[in-house]
Amino acid sequence: MTRHQLSLDRRIQSLFPVALASLLVLGTARLVLDALKTNDSFVFQLYGRPRGQQQSPAVVVSPEDRIDESCNVFEGKWVWDNVSHPHYTEESCPYLVKQVTCQRNGRPDSYYKNWRWQPNDCNLPRFDPLKLMQILRGKRLMFVGDSVQRGQFESLVCMVQSIIPQGKKSLQRVPPRKIFKVEEFDASIEYYWAPFIVESISDHATKHTVLKRLVKLDSIAKHGKHWEGVDILVFESYVWWMHKPTINATYGSPDVQEYNVTTAYRLALQTWAEWLESSINPERQKVFFMSMSPTHLWSWEWKAGSDENCFNESYPIQGSYWGTGSNMEIMEMIHDQIQDLKVKVTFLNITQLSEYRKDAHTSIYGERKGKLLTKEQRSDPKNFADCIHWCLPGVPDTWNEILYAHLLKSHQNLL
Ligand SMILES: *[C@@H]1O[C@H](CO)[C@@H](O)[C@H](O)[C@H]1NC(C)=O
Ligand SMILES: *[C@@H]1O[C@H](CO)[C@@H](O)[C@H](O)[C@H]1NC(C)=O
Ligand SMILES: *[C@@H]1O[C@H](CO)[C@@H](O)[C@H](O)[C@H]1NC(C)=O
Ligand SMILES: *[C@@H]1O[C@H](CO)[C@@H](O)[C@H](O)[C@H]1NC(C)=O
Ligand SMILES: *[C@@H]1O[C@H](CO)[C@@H](O)[C@H](O)[C@H]1NC(C)=O
Ligand SMILES: *[C@@H]1O[C@H](CO)[C@@H](O)[C@H](O)[C@H]1NC(C)=O
Repeated sequence: MTRHQLSLDRRIQSLFPVALASLLVLGTARLVLDALKTNDSFVFQLYGRPRGQQQSPAVVVSPEDRIDESCNVFEGKWVWDNVSHPHYTEESCPYLVKQVTCQRNGRPDSYYKNWRWQPNDCNLPRFDPLKLMQILRGKRLMFVGDSVQRGQFESLVCMVQSIIPQGKKSLQRVPPRKIFKVEEFDASIEYYWAPFIVESISDHATKHTVLKRLVKLDSIAKHGKHWEGVDILVFESYVWWMHKPTINATYGSPDVQEYNVTTAYRLALQTWAEWLESSINPERQKVFFMSMSPTHLWSWEWKAGSDENCFNESYPIQGSYWGTGSNMEIMEMIHDQIQDLKVKVTFLNITQLSEYRKDAHTSIYGERKGKLLTKEQRSDPKNFADCIHWCLPGVPDTWNEILYAHLLKSHQNLL
């Protein structure tokens, strides 16, 4: 083994024990009652109460909403912007689970909420919750993946929910789904727990083991039937694969075999691709795939000589940076798989922009096994900091600004 491979294996092995066993658990989300008092929203004031589809106002797309096709929105930098960011606060969004409300959980610094992603060659459209809801009118948008993806789901719900009056919105838990419904738009934003996308023994929404993983590389039907007909599907799967360089799986027969993770991931993607080709109507449905969300488990990667993690980091990384936890081979594999499909899948390459954000993880201000860390655990960040999940408001809001920019693109012909 070369030195590189050795460090690679050490990295993959430690991804789980450090953080995951308890962190990837779906968690005990408890819905807080909506604080909104009025029942007449900003939406009604602007457009009146919609009655059926015919009267739906068209989505007004302004010139600032257009992004030039040639602009790579994934290249850029984080700029300080405490005017436009955050889009919401922990207090204003009743749907956040305890795992992500870092400030309420005791995080002393708050700069992490105020950075805006600025692409080098263009501006991202300003996020407008009303426009997003107009785009989603009569539609379902579903995030499929693991707990990182659940963070993106919660982020989007919080980004839009303030314009919907109380009583006209609801969050239901129908494991393995979570469904945010907006009555006046006949729309829903949903989340579906499937950490490997294909079937596995980790599919139970709350009772799942990460240490004994067993993936069925050629089975997807049980999940797929819940994805059928969904207008916008947003997939993500990464960190669960990375526990060890090998994974137990079945393929073609009930016999369990150990597979190289790269090989297993490729086979799972093929199964997913076949499902897409046979189930997606490209005229009516849109499919996105999120690139991997980076981890910041080893501070020596950005601060030579140190031996810690993301704990006590208050600022983004300046200059170029790519952590070894983000496996380029897997990224390329996903990209290649998508290229070959007849169904168009848009790959949102959010890894690089998130790599800079060593400051934005939940660290010791999140949960472990469904409970906030104890004082003793907090005093031991080396073992207890979560450098995988993100605080909200935070980085997943930016992923959603980019998703929003893409959804707007398909409405630009309305002007
Ligand atoms: C809310 O709606 C109810 C019935 O729809 C109405 O009686 C009440 O006055 C409304 N409240 C406000 C604050 O508009
Ligand atoms: C926003 O940031 C500027 C520059 O750091 C600071 O002077 C100002 O007080 C901040 N405003 C708020 C509302 O935090
Ligand atoms: C696969 O399963 C066997 C039997 O349970 C176990 O001994 C082995 O460690 C597992 N391999 C991995 C990579 O989890
Ligand atoms: C895993 O598969 C990849 C790609 O086929 C290969 O490059 C790598 O050497 C394999 N690793 C092991 C441990 O077999
Ligand atoms: C966090 O970092 C600051 C300096 O960046 C340092 O002064 C402080 O002692 C650190 N806190 C802990 C708990 O390590
Ligand atoms: C994603 O972005 C990174 C960083 O800019 C780049 O190196 C990589 O090639 C991109 N991946 C794909 C599949 O486009």
